[in-house]
Amino acid sequence: MLVSPSLLGADFLNVGDAVRMLNANADWIHLDLMDGVLVPNLSFGFSVTDAVSRAATIPMDAHLMTVHPWRWFSHLRNKGVSAISFHLESAGADAAIHLAALRTMGVKAGLAIDPDVPVHKLYPYIYKADFMLIMSVYAGFGGQKFIPESLDRIAALKAEIGRRGAATLIEVDGGVNVENASLLRQAGADILVAGSAVFSAPDPAAVIRALREA
Ligand code: DX5
Ligand code: ZN
Repeated sequence: MLVSPSLLGADFLNVGDAVRMLNANADWIHLDLMDGVLVPNLSFGFSVTDAVSRAATIPMDAHLMTVHPWRWFSHLRNKGVSAISFHLESAGADAAIHLAALRTMGVKAGLAIDPDVPVHKLYPYIYKADFMLIMSVYAGFGGQKFIPESLDRIAALKAEIGRRGAATLIEVDGGVNVENASLLRQAGADILVAGSAVFSAPDPAAVIRALREA
């Protein structure tokens, strides 16, 4: 599996150290953008993501937890972000148009859902997205507990992707740790996002390795 540690879990007095550690150990860098409207929290904006983009040597993966997510596509693409996901809850009927826009920009297009959105709502987009982001906690905060029902949702989505013969990847975000990583792989996860499990560990590089090899 690919591992995309969430920078939200890092020490913001030492973001440069966090990015250099991720450059040396991770597959992608997960950037969580929150607007306080779609989710009840604020995270960081372009002043942080632009600085990270200057230091990152591995792909950046932006997760937009905002209304009007498409407003931020071009800026992030211009800073070299290679994968962008947005929430079906914020895009509604426009999701297909925005996935197509991302692909046209040369960005991997991702569609995210929170745990209360039925997983079959993603099925019409399987061929239109490069990856699906299954939230295994409610979007908005790091450090929450993994919701175990997410495993069945991932397995159902994986089976549907297989039935349709598509190559859509499944990214999982929220409460991911070394204990649940192998269950996530068995259920069908391709990309693991982990914030607190990586950054609160005494040896973040070892946790990233363990997640990747789970
Ligand atoms: C939550 C974010 C996550 C978060 C994950 O809304 O999308 O990426 O940083 O943090 P952990 O791994 O601590 O649940
Ligand atoms: Zn995220």
